[in-house]
Amino acid sequence: MKKTRASWSGSVAFVLAAAASAIGLGNLWRFPYLAARYGGGIFIAVYLALSLTLGFVLLVTEIAIGRYARQSQLTAFGVLGHPKWNFLGVLATVVPLFILPYYNVIGGWVVRYFAAYAGTAFAGIAPAADPKAFFDAFVAAPWAPFVAMCVFTAAVLAVIVLGVKNGIEKANLVLVPALLAMAIALSVYVATLPGAGAGIRFYLVPDFSSCDNVGKVVLGAMGQMFYSLSLAMGIMITYGSYMRRRDSVPKAAVRIVAADTFVAILSGFMIIPVVVVFASAGAAEGGRVAIDAGPGLMFETLPKVFLSLGAAGPWIGFVFFTLVLFAALTSSISMTEALVAAVCDFFKTSRGKSVAVIGAWTVALGAVSAFGYGRWSSLKFFSLPPLDFFDTSMNILTPIVAALICVFVGWILSPKRILAECQRSGERVGFRLFYVIMVRFVAPILIVAILISEVCRCLKIGGWSI
Ligand code: PHE
Repeated sequence: MKKTRASWSGSVAFVLAAAASAIGLGNLWRFPYLAARYGGGIFIAVYLALSLTLGFVLLVTEIAIGRYARQSQLTAFGVLGHPKWNFLGVLATVVPLFILPYYNVIGGWVVRYFAAYAGTAFAGIAPAADPKAFFDAFVAAPWAPFVAMCVFTAAVLAVIVLGVKNGIEKANLVLVPALLAMAIALSVYVATLPGAGAGIRFYLVPDFSSCDNVGKVVLGAMGQMFYSLSLAMGIMITYGSYMRRRDSVPKAAVRIVAADTFVAILSGFMIIPVVVVFASAGAAEGGRVAIDAGPGLMFETLPKVFLSLGAAGPWIGFVFFTLVLFAALTSSISMTEALVAAVCDFFKTSRGKSVAVIGAWTVALGAVSAFGYGRWSSLKFFSLPPLDFFDTSMNILTPIVAALICVFVGWILSPKRILAECQRSGERVGFRLFYVIMVRFVAPILIVAILISEVCRCLKIGGWSI
């Protein structure tokens, strides 16, 4: 008997899963930094405009490819009748294959902080007096980062083993609403703190004086949107392959963009005012307070802020790291699913075996990044620690994959095929001309611009450090 492909139980479940993938560390630790750096409201407006045009088009494309092919990214391009383009499926699989292990290492860091704040909130354990020293000691510890990564990975695999409907769907049903509730609660709390008004103005009011270079604002917003929507990682193709034919692809895409952008903007409300008021983190940069991005913001600056919140600090820290943990878990789940589905589709094996293979790979390669700041700190790739090296290379590979997908759809497959897939639900598709122009011309050009800026950033050419 031929096994039928797994499917979401409905369009809400699909949107929830895709949004859960999109909402991740990028929303929390990079969007606020970019908004603070590039003119507040100006950046937010540019980001919104780009997500609703370019982001929408790329999302529709990936979801429709998956739904048409009923295969994950690895084998989907062959099913579309262009076996020569199978290499694109391989590239789209390589991206999560290399991102997942180090994403789980960062997930492990979040687990460590979650545990630490649970300890301070519930058991009254004194928080680390010097958050920077705590972080540096933790990532350099002989075993702790590896063990934390294994805990995080085990949680993700436990969900994946249960399957699409019973695992991913059910987990999202709990994790996503909880994440939203915590983000809204924290934003409201922050807004009530004395001095928050100035921080909110700093975040929202357009500041043209800090936007000397329009190109940087647009490229920054575009790169962020890309990562934030989980594009070019095979995820949306795989998730699309579980979508029912009668559900609308464009409507789902708009909802995913809206949910992801909502959480990105909300993170700014949560983070910018407290950093501006309490830590006044960085030195003023061009007249604006500089907020750091990434691990520095999450594991050093914010813990410092929590210390200054007095008795509320441990609780706020606990809620915040629970939120971060949920965001990281759902993103990691989506990457793992894209890989497990690829192994299942390609080798026609059972889900259990595929999970074992992908789990072993993740732990093995993750170990290289987990030990990379401690016991294996002499291991460098192009003078970068392993985690930073994988991150940089994937930042370059993703735009290549995305540009190739656009070229494939625009010039080889024909945009009509994607539009036809969108019409399967019986709706009228009103954006045909817009879609064709975007996928053939605008998207490839913009994506190549991101690629060039990424390469310049990594080679430290020009002032393109976004
Ligand atoms: N989109 C996620 C974020 O904003 C990140 C992510 C990357 C998710 C890769 C899945 C795969 O953080």
